[in-house]
Amino acid sequence: MALTNIVPGESVRDLGPGGGIDCFIAAKMTGKRGRVVGIDMTDEMLINANASKEIIAKNLGFDNVRFLKGFLEEIPKIFLQKSVAIHLRISIN
Ligand SMILES: C[S@@+](CC[C@H](N)C(=O)[O-])C[C@H]1O[C@@H](n2cnc3c(N)ncnc32)[C@H](O)[C@@H]1O
Repeated sequence: MALTNIVPGESVRDLGPGGGIDCFIAAKMTGKRGRVVGIDMTDEMLINANASKEIIAKNLGFDNVRFLKGFLEEIPKIFLQKSVAIHLRISIN
């Protein structure tokens, strides 16, 4: 799903966000009433993403992004419901 589908107030899941760049773009698009959660399995990526998050939140004036550690294959389906998923690189059954 493309970033262009995101509207203000929306809940967004980025599956495999890496350094989080798309999460930060989505954070601005969904605004302070929205929420963005990035799920990644790699500690290094999560450290980088969280470091950038502080700067982005300061610039935006709000903090609506969270990064969680996890494997995409293990995400409960309910976590993805009523949200926009970006970078869905694997099939979740
Ligand atoms: C190529 S990076 C993509 C970064 C970002 N989405 C982008 O487009 O710039 C892929 C990321 O997905 C994560 N990843 C790959 N397979 C995964 C899995 N099965 N569960 C969780 N994270 C995964 C990797 O750790 C990596 O940070």
